[in-house]
Amino acid sequence: MADETQTPTTVIRNDPWYDSYAQRADAMRASEIRALFAVATRPDVVSLAGGMPYLDYLPFKELSQLIAKMLVDKGDQAWQYGSAQGDPHLREDVLQIMELEGIKDIQADDVVITNGSQNGLDLITRIMCDPGDVVLAEAPNYVGALGVFQSFQVDVVNVELDKDGLVPESFEEAIISQRKLGKKVKFLYTVPNFHNPAGVTMSVERRPRVLEIARKYHVLVVEDNPYGLLGFEGQTYPALRSMDAENVVYLSSFSKIIAPGMRIAWMVAPAGIRHKLILANEASILCPPNMSQMTISTYLDNFDWRKQINDYRGMYKERCETMDAALRTYLPYCSWHKPKGGFYIWLKIPEGLDSKAMLPRAITAKVAYVAGTGFYMDGQGSDHMRLSFCYPTPEQILEGVRRLSTVMDAERKTIELFGAGRRQGKGTDGGW
Ligand SMILES: Cc1ncc(COP(=O)(O)O)c(C=O)c1O
Repeated sequence: MADETQTPTTVIRNDPWYDSYAQRADAMRASEIRALFAVATRPDVVSLAGGMPYLDYLPFKELSQLIAKMLVDKGDQAWQYGSAQGDPHLREDVLQIMELEGIKDIQADDVVITNGSQNGLDLITRIMCDPGDVVLAEAPNYVGALGVFQSFQVDVVNVELDKDGLVPESFEEAIISQRKLGKKVKFLYTVPNFHNPAGVTMSVERRPRVLEIARKYHVLVVEDNPYGLLGFEGQTYPALRSMDAENVVYLSSFSKIIAPGMRIAWMVAPAGIRHKLILANEASILCPPNMSQMTISTYLDNFDWRKQINDYRGMYKERCETMDAALRTYLPYCSWHKPKGGFYIWLKIPEGLDSKAMLPRAITAKVAYVAGTGFYMDGQGSDHMRLSFCYPTPEQILEGVRRLSTVMDAERKTIELFGAGRRQGKGTDGGW
C-alpha cells in the first residue's frame, strides 16, 4: 500500500494491461529524486538535489584517445559477450582499490563485477529475500536501496543512526523484536562511510560490535561503500569486510570515484553467496558489458587514479566547506552534522516546517533539494532535507542556500502568523 510519503505509482490511462501486472510491479514507485529530475536540471534552477559526481576534472580527451586505441587493439574482446562474473583483468584491478580500506585477504576470483552497485543491490536482494522477509536498514536510508527492497516486497525495518553511524543496540533490538514476530531477518544493509543521505560515518569503535551482533544472530551484513575513498582529509576507515570475511557482502563502485556513466561496480561475497550472485547476474543480464569494464581498466592502467581521487576529495571538501558556511550564514536556525567526506548534508529544519510541502515553493524560488520523506518508507522525514554539494559550483551552492533561506524565512513567518503546517512531533529528533 502506498503511504503518504511515497510518490504514487504512475497509472497510465487506459493501459490495457492494468490487471495483468505482478504484485511486485505494483510495489514499484518513482523515487522522489527521479520525480524532481526534470525541474531540478533546468539551467535557472540551482540543484542541491542530485548525487551526481562533478566530472569536469576527468581527462576526457586523453581518455577518449586511449579508449579508441583499446577498441581497435582489443576489439574482438571489447565488442564481445563476457563472463557473468566480470572481466578477470578488472577483477584483478579492483583488489588494489579495496586494499586502501584494509581488504587484503582476497583474490580476483572472490570478486563479481556488476552494472553499478544498484545491480549489486538487486542481485543480493534477489537471491536472499522472499516477499515479506525483513531487511534491517539505517533510517534514513539510500533511496535506490529502498527502491530495490520495495520491488522485492521486502519489509524494511529501521535501525537507528546517529552521528557515529548505525547504533549497534538498535540493530540487536531490531533482530530480537522481528524474530519474536516470527519474521525472517535476511540481512542488515548499511552504508558505513559518508552515508547517503545522513553524511555520517560509522565510528571505528562500533564496527567490531556490529559484526559481533551479526555473528551472534547469524544475520548477513551488506556493506555498501561507494564513498569510502572520498574522505576530505584522505582518511579511510577499515571496511567491515576487512574484519569479517564470512558474514559480510561488500559492494563498491566506480561511480563516485571515477564516473557513473560506465555503470561498473563490484561485489565481494563468501563463496556460497558469490556462486548464487553469479548465477543471478547471468539470469538477469548475461554479463556486465566488456566495453565498459575494459574502459575502466584502461583508465586504471594508464592514469594516476590515486591522484584523481585526491583531486576529487579536495574539490568536494571545498564545496562542503562552502555549503557549511552558507548554512551558518543564511540558515542558522537549522541544524546539521558537518560531514567529513562524501556528497551530502542532512539538514534538520525548524519545528513546524515540512520539507515535502515546501518543495514546490523552493522550486518556484529556483532551488531544488530532496525532501527527507524520500529516505524513509514509513512516513518520517518531513523535518529533514538532503542537500548535495557534489555537483554545483561553490558560487551556485552559496546562491542556492541563499534562495532556500528566502523560502524558509517566509515559511517561518507564515507559521508565526497561522500556526504549523507539519504535525508536531513527527519525524526524528537528530540534529546531526
Ligand atoms: C549508497 C549508495 N549505494 C549505491 C549507489 C548506486 O551506485 P551505482 O552508480 O554504482 O549504481 C549510490 C548512488 O548514489 C549510493 O549513494
